[in-house]
Amino acid sequence: MDFTLSEEQIMIRDAARDFARTELLPGVIERDNHQKFPTEQVKKMGELGFLGMMVDPKYGGGGMDTVSYVLVMEELSKIDASCSVIVSVNNSLVCYGLEKYGSEEQKEKYLTKLATGEKLGAFCLSEPEAGSDATSQRTTAIDKGDHYILNGTKNWITNGGTADYYLVIAQTDKEKKHKGINAFIVEKGWEGFEIGPKEDKLGIRGSDTHSLIFNDVKIPKGNRIGEDGFGFKFAMKTLSGGRIGIAAQALGIAAGAYDLAREYSKVRKAFGTEICNHQAIAFKLADMHTSITAARHLVMKAAWDKDQGNDYDMSGAMAKLYASQVAMDVSVEAVQVHGGNGYVKEYHVERLMRDAKITQIYEGTSEIQKIVISRGLLRD
Ligand code: CAA
Repeated sequence: MDFTLSEEQIMIRDAARDFARTELLPGVIERDNHQKFPTEQVKKMGELGFLGMMVDPKYGGGGMDTVSYVLVMEELSKIDASCSVIVSVNNSLVCYGLEKYGSEEQKEKYLTKLATGEKLGAFCLSEPEAGSDATSQRTTAIDKGDHYILNGTKNWITNGGTADYYLVIAQTDKEKKHKGINAFIVEKGWEGFEIGPKEDKLGIRGSDTHSLIFNDVKIPKGNRIGEDGFGFKFAMKTLSGGRIGIAAQALGIAAGAYDLAREYSKVRKAFGTEICNHQAIAFKLADMHTSITAARHLVMKAAWDKDQGNDYDMSGAMAKLYASQVAMDVSVEAVQVHGGNGYVKEYHVERLMRDAKITQIYEGTSEIQKIVISRGLLRD
């Protein structure tokens, strides 16, 4: 396997790096403090093509590969994981799901606007009692002939308040269990669709996370994605790709924390010398860099698998499982390298440490990744 990046991949990675440093860094602490959604930054990311990177240009996307996408995710996440989760959900879950499984009409009407960043998407699977256990959907969509009637509540929805289009997973026939689940496109503003309060989160505080309430929302039949009963597979297949994006986010958080720790260790002095000259610190940097490099290989392998048309359920889950642990470990160590300053907001590492935790929870907890991996191992 050749991981040499093409000129185009290097260009897009450098553009993301430059954007993150110049546009995301300046306000990142304030957005985190005040849970302020990065409206301006999201608009600019749309203009740069970061919101529909892998979508076919005929639907307004960038036509890029998954490797380019994870490079961008890593660079954005080094600075601002709140922005990168917005990018990840829009690209991996919403645009991918629609492009791969949506009808031509759905693509024309919704994907073209989502891929350019004109509109933002959200993916709505989790419920108060259906997080890991995704087949236990309580939200119902009852078939009424030419439309469905949607009722229920969704929880912890990224872009919940800011999205325009929502991919909602709901049960249409309880008897059929996971084969009685469908996915629908729901528009903000439809009668009966209410956005719940914003969650006050530990990390990724610049992104907005809401519960959503559906009270007799009328969905045209044409807004169902795929054949009747395809909703659970739709969610699983889409999440498999989503996990590659979140793995890249975790990698970026780890790499960002490591960069800060390394730089700090070269200027901070203790016992008469820069602290990087003490093995207690130098060995930490060695461990951090080693685990980040291993995580990067797993992330690139998963992205490469997807680009090659290989199965990527397992490689995506392994990348997410490992990279999210590395994000936790490295960000905690980066705070330690900073000592007291690490506990202070202006040094950025405490935010990265808080942001890291979500990568072990959303798009499937670490335990879910282990289910996916072990089932893959034992399938044959
Ligand atoms: N691709 C295609 N089909 C799949 C699949 C995949 N990756 N995974 C499962 N399926 C299919 C199975 O083949 C099976 O179909 P058949 O009966 O036709 O064979 C069906 O789905 C049911 O599969 P399981 O019996 O394996 O289902 P399960 O109940 O045991 O659950 C699970 C499997 C992996 C635990 C799954 O429930 C899961 O992934 N849970 C976690 C959900 C999750 O990631 N939620 C995140 C929310 S979204 C989010 O966080 C976004 C955000 O805001 C950032």
